[in-house]
Amino acid sequence: MIKAGGTLVKRSNCLVFFFEGGKLRCKNYFTGMEFEASPVLVSILAKLHRWRSLREIERLFPASSSAAMRSYLRELVALTVVMVRGGSQSKREGELSAWDTWGVEARFFHYASRNVHSAPVSIDEVSFNRALRRRRVPPPPVKAYRGRPRINLPDPSRHSRDQLPEVLLARRTHRSFGAGSVSLEQLSILLRLTWGFTSFIRWPGLGRLPVKTSPSGGARHSLEVYLWCLRVAGLAPGIYHYRADRHQLELLRRAEVKGRVGMLCGYQEWVRNCSALFVMTSVLARVMWRYQNSRAYRVVLLEAGHFCQTFCLVATWLGLAPFCTAALFDEKIERDLRLHADEPVLYAAGVGMPSMK
Ligand SMILES: Cc1cc2nc3c(=O)[nH]c(=O)nc-3n(C[C@H](O)[C@H](O)[C@H](O)COP(=O)(O)O)c2cc1C
Repeated sequence: MIKAGGTLVKRSNCLVFFFEGGKLRCKNYFTGMEFEASPVLVSILAKLHRWRSLREIERLFPASSSAAMRSYLRELVALTVVMVRGGSQSKREGELSAWDTWGVEARFFHYASRNVHSAPVSIDEVSFNRALRRRRVPPPPVKAYRGRPRINLPDPSRHSRDQLPEVLLARRTHRSFGAGSVSLEQLSILLRLTWGFTSFIRWPGLGRLPVKTSPSGGARHSLEVYLWCLRVAGLAPGIYHYRADRHQLELLRRAEVKGRVGMLCGYQEWVRNCSALFVMTSVLARVMWRYQNSRAYRVVLLEAGHFCQTFCLVATWLGLAPFCTAALFDEKIERDLRLHADEPVLYAAGVGMPSMK
């Protein structure tokens, strides 16, 4: 609502302008709103860098009538280009200052690529992929240099019965699960060997830093893990946080979460049959404290990959059925966990009992 008195408006802090097909486009990367813009909009928004009342704005643009200006502002508010002070957009955007250290680029990529699964995805995988193939031949899965000398390597298969290669070779993504529950002991091993502190190292100038089984840029270990417990023997269904230093679970909410996890994982309904879902987040401040450039955001994402692979291997070694998914409704998960922009959701992995085939 834009009223003559009282209401204060300001341009959004999350706007990017770019040319596409010769047209200027404006995107609010936080709300996802994108539209064709006129260059005039840029000069108007330039003046809305701070909270302004309607009267002030009318004085800044005397050529427009009050009614026309009010209607234009209403349109800009609907497009989330302009926000109203005290409104939900201004409150939510305010939290994004947690990303300021890494400039626009890290938060642009994070938020612009956040909500891609807005509805249940019900595609027929076979016809979808056949249609893709018809449109364009898929790129080959290998790169080969023609005309270069090739050196045959010794056959590594004689090691394939050793424990580590056996686990590596056995790891697969599972999407169906058997009956029964994961034991509390298996859960404990999964947590300790993936996310638990395993020892300490001395870091120059910082003293003792905890380390885990996966590497972490600068040993910052920004990742946290939350457990959605569905079917673990001896552990009530609900949402837990893993306390990495003490190897403990902190109960956040007791609840039947089976009906919710599929939706949280981009409506992949098979997830509801798993035993436990592990969602990784990052406490950005731990990394930003040491690394102030936006490349550090890559480090955070890479790190999540390391942890997920460790998780999948530990689960495979335990004879369990692991999976991972990046098709997440970050916003809904963050709401369930009451998290804010300073601890974004990154990645999820889960585990169930293997199904009998
Ligand atoms: C970052 C990442 C995200 C993934 N997201 C999904 C997902 O949303 N749903 C799914 O079924 N599999 C997902 N997968 C698993 C891949 O589909 C799977 O690794 C691939 O089919 C190869 O099978 P494999 O893991 O058994 O080798 C993901 C894998 C990675 C690395």
